[in-house]
Amino acid sequence: MRVVLDIGRFNPDAQDAQPYRQEFVLEVEEYFTVLDALIRIREFEDPSLAVRCSCRASICGSCAMRVNGHAGLGCKTKLISVMDKEGRVRVDPVGNMPLVKDLVWDMKPFWDKVRAVEPYLQPEGPEPEEEYIASAESMLHLVGVQACIMCGACVSDCTVLEVDKNFLGPAALAKAYRFIGDPRDGATKARLEKLNEYSGVWDCTRCMECVQACPKGVAPMERIMVMRDKAIANGLHGTNGARHAESFAEMVKHTGWLNEFWLVPRTYGMFNLMNLNSMFGALPVAWRAWRRGKLPSMMHPKREGAENVRRIFEKVEDHKS
Ligand code: FES
Repeated sequence: MRVVLDIGRFNPDAQDAQPYRQEFVLEVEEYFTVLDALIRIREFEDPSLAVRCSCRASICGSCAMRVNGHAGLGCKTKLISVMDKEGRVRVDPVGNMPLVKDLVWDMKPFWDKVRAVEPYLQPEGPEPEEEYIASAESMLHLVGVQACIMCGACVSDCTVLEVDKNFLGPAALAKAYRFIGDPRDGATKARLEKLNEYSGVWDCTRCMECVQACPKGVAPMERIMVMRDKAIANGLHGTNGARHAESFAEMVKHTGWLNEFWLVPRTYGMFNLMNLNSMFGALPVAWRAWRRGKLPSMMHPKREGAENVRRIFEKVEDHKS
C-alpha cells in the first residue's frame, strides 16, 4: 500500500528555526499504524525525524499527535482509516503545548497543571490501622476516569486553551474529578472552592473536542460538568458560571424557554459595576435575538407547553434526590 505522509516539522537548531512541512512516500502494509510509518521513516528515510513513543500499544500515552487535524495516539491510528483517496495523511504535533522538535512536545506545562489539582488522596480523620477502604460500588463511577493515560490528546484539541493558557484544561480537571469523586477523600469542599475560581471548571465551553480526542473514553468534559454540579451543591454560587447555569435552568423551568435578555444581568449580577462592560457588550446580541423573535414577549412570558417543561424538570429533580 502506498502512502504519502505530510509531516509538520520543526528543528530548533536550524538557523531560522521555522516550522515547515515535509512529505515522505512509503510502501507499507495494510496493518500499519501512523506510528509504524513514522518509525519506518526515522529508520530508513530520515533519522533526524523526532517522534516520541514507547509501548506502541496505547498504554504509555507517549505518542499523542494530530492526524488530519485531530489529536489521538499515533500507535492506535491505522493508516488505512485516515488516508484519503490519494493515500495522503497529514501528521502534526499536538496543539496547545510548546514544541521541542518535530512531533515531540514539552510536557512540563501539562504536568504543572496536573500537579496544581493536588492529584493525591487527602483523607480526613484518624488513619486506619491497615488501609483506607472504599466499597467497589462507590468507586465504580471512577473506572472511566482512571483509564486516563495522560497522553495530552484532550489538551491538544481544547478550544479554551487556544485562547487562554491559564485554563487548567481537560486532563488536569479529569484528574481532579478522580479525587473529588473518591469517597475516601476529605478535601472535596476545598478542592471545589479552588476549581470554582478563574481557570477552573467554569471556563470550559463544552465544545466536546476533549471527549472526541480522548483515546481512552475518559470524557473529561462530562467530569467537568459533574464538578460544576457538585460546586453548586456545596453552596458555591458566587461565580458567573454558577449564576448562568442556575438562571438558565430556572427560566426554562418556569417559562418553558430561555429569556436571553434577563440571562445576561442575572449571570453577571444585577448591580455588579465590575461587569458593566460585559453586560453592555451583550446588548447587540440581545437586540438581534429580540428582532428574530427569540426573546419572550413581556405580555406572554410563558411559552405554550411550559407546564410540560416544568413537569420534566420535577421528574429529573425527583430522580436525582
Ligand atoms: Fe505508548 Fe502510543 S506508544 S501510547
